[in-house]
Amino acid sequence: MSKKLIVAIDGPAGSGKSTSAKLVAQKLGYLYVDSGAMYRAITYLAIIRNVLNNSEEISTLAMQTDLKLKYEDGITFVFANGKNITGEIRSVEVNNNVSIVSKIDGVRKALVSKQKEMGNLGCGIVMEGRDIASVVFPNADVKIFLTASINQRAERRLKEFSEKGIDVNKTDIEENISMRDNLDSTRELSPLVKAKDAFEIDTSNITIDEQVEKILTIVNKIAGNKT
Ligand code: DC
Repeated sequence: MSKKLIVAIDGPAGSGKSTSAKLVAQKLGYLYVDSGAMYRAITYLAIIRNVLNNSEEISTLAMQTDLKLKYEDGITFVFANGKNITGEIRSVEVNNNVSIVSKIDGVRKALVSKQKEMGNLGCGIVMEGRDIASVVFPNADVKIFLTASINQRAERRLKEFSEKGIDVNKTDIEENISMRDNLDSTRELSPLVKAKDAFEIDTSNITIDEQVEKILTIVNKIAGNKT
């Protein structure tokens, strides 16, 4: 494949975005970017600095923090001003507060601008999130929107937590997912929406390999039309 494409993958929590986006990037030899990790990093910093109720302070954090993502061996390592906070950004406390932080205008502006810079690097990129096809890369070559039933999404999150030895119950996870869906889809700025020209894939009853295959088929078709 000659032309390096921008592939935008959006969808709600647990829709299979991260797993399939990583594999698609790997197969294409593209850069993989988990934009949610950036919102999580700012949320974590807001928690430890005790400024969760101050939008201005949080926006300043988003603007001034030197945020670096490094993807290696299936893991997105996150560094804030050089400090590795990879594990910290996946805590239950961050899960519970990230939708509030990602509603803040100043936070979105700062992070979207960093994300656009990554797209300008000129290498192929697969970026996943909530507003990648609609706001970050409205001209993305490929736009994918993943969905799945809430039951299936909660099962997936439960498995992720238990693999990390974190004890949570499915009802709590379903509640957290519903709350985040609601906040992410109804927020005024860059809500989670399917872009008009995005391909929708329901991942409830298909395997990861099938998801990846479907996405690659779309990418290859579009790449073929562009060469
Ligand atoms: O993909 P994730 O669950 O790690 O994302 C965490 C939160 O970050 C999610 O609840 C909403 C927010 N987010 C966002 O607002 N925009 C993005 N592009 C990515 C994530």
